[in-house]
Amino acid sequence: MSESARERRSINRRTFIGSGAAAVAAGVLGVPTLAGWRGQSSTGTQLRSGIRLPPPFRRPMAVPPVLTPSSRTEDADVYQMRQYPVPLEVVPGYRTTVWTYGGSFPGPTIRSQSGRRTVVEHTNKLPVPTVVHLHGGVTPPENDGYPTDLILPDESWVGYGHGGDTTVRTRTYEYPLQQRGATLWYHDHRMDFTGPAVWNGLAGFHLVTDAEEERLDLPDGARELPLALMDRAFDAQGQFLYPSLDPELIDPPGVRQPYESGMLGDVILVNGRAWPYHQVDTALYRLRFLNASNARRYRLRFEVGGEEADLPITQIGSDHGLLAGAVRHEALTLAPAERFDVLVDFRSLQPGTHVRVVNDLGSGTTADVMRFDVTRRVTDELEVPEVLSPGIERLHENEAVRTRQMTFRSQTIDGMHGWVVNGEPFDPHMAHATVELGSTEIWELTGDFHHPIHLHLAPFQVLGRGAGGPGPFDSGWKDTIDLRPAETARIIVRFDGYRGRYVFHCHNLEHEDMMMMANFDVV
Ligand code: C2O
Ligand code: CU
Ligand code: CU
Repeated sequence: MSESARERRSINRRTFIGSGAAAVAAGVLGVPTLAGWRGQSSTGTQLRSGIRLPPPFRRPMAVPPVLTPSSRTEDADVYQMRQYPVPLEVVPGYRTTVWTYGGSFPGPTIRSQSGRRTVVEHTNKLPVPTVVHLHGGVTPPENDGYPTDLILPDESWVGYGHGGDTTVRTRTYEYPLQQRGATLWYHDHRMDFTGPAVWNGLAGFHLVTDAEEERLDLPDGARELPLALMDRAFDAQGQFLYPSLDPELIDPPGVRQPYESGMLGDVILVNGRAWPYHQVDTALYRLRFLNASNARRYRLRFEVGGEEADLPITQIGSDHGLLAGAVRHEALTLAPAERFDVLVDFRSLQPGTHVRVVNDLGSGTTADVMRFDVTRRVTDELEVPEVLSPGIERLHENEAVRTRQMTFRSQTIDGMHGWVVNGEPFDPHMAHATVELGSTEIWELTGDFHHPIHLHLAPFQVLGRGAGGPGPFDSGWKDTIDLRPAETARIIVRFDGYRGRYVFHCHNLEHEDMMMMANFDVV
């Protein structure tokens, strides 16, 4: 590490707020206007790669390996995970240094049983401090990956931080997983630098299953595919390109103009590879989509081509597990951090058929996502279940003890472009809401641009958007809502689980790093 980096590292507080130097260095940034964003599919700016992009569908898709526990006790599975950089072929012909969990990108998949404790010991071998958060986990606060609870790479970093509960080199996270089966994911959550850390590779699946899901006869094995969508840009050497103000990710946080509204790449990755193809049988498949992109939204369609209609998409689950019953979509819209568990039926197709997954919200290279190649005729008699989780609880408005307003807007903070919650930039020492354990509240969320709003700890249900009811992608238990420009959405949330301080924030990671985060205290 360089001298200047060492010096800057000893600054315990970020200089984003209240530092004239940082503001001058970055210039005074303009705040985008709503008019400029209307009709845009994602809030953000696309960065162009410096390499020649390959044609799509050149390489087979990879499925992240399932991690084996290092030990099993009577009531827990114990895992070890090392975080370290590895050169990987993300784009054909290039070796990109990826920050990995366990050498894989996305990280290895953890599979847990609902109600069975999962313990993950993380070791940080990366050049910067890290934080691990299990997104969607109902987790005690000390294990939730609070943004200032850092794992420092080594002793030379002692003293760096924002006063959280820091450890050196390793930290053990315990997940009780007293929750429904669901597609969860884990990712980095370090204060001010989550965007670049996730962009560099720090994200993986954590799939939780439960008895209700197991009773349904859903496709499994090779016919159950976790699919993580990410967009990236590359420099001329094929390395990930991210316009951090500080390339060493120490201080100050944030990105260069004009990327402060969100980083969009021009390459679409599925499970860590650019525009892959995947060979499928004439069978029913379960696809567990995760939008792990920093800022990009997608609208996916399964295009058969020729005269043929697109394949219908049957949604069976949302962020927090199974829906009451199956929901049909022609296309699937996903905001960052949202998960959609869907069934897609390839049985009507002839071997030799190519099904392109296209992104209607992209253009040029970002309009393609991946391709399914039907290669083998088999007999598959699985039925598409219509009834999934009939006993799913519905929260009612009259259960709510209060209603709160939360606004998510762009704001200039000391001459810098920033993003705020109810007018305030993130401050780990201040809570926007104090809620009682077990109580139910209605939160009215209003935004200026696209803001995928995520609450830690407590899943919620969407009551409505504007004057209308929930949108087509709002079914079931959610932990992230795709809040659209100039919209107010109402969610109902029960703060069950644990007492303590948790964050809620925008999951556009550039907005999050540039302060669009706040605390709620469960008491
Ligand atoms: Cu996906 Cu606060 O996290
Ligand atoms: Cu989360
Ligand atoms: Cu946002």
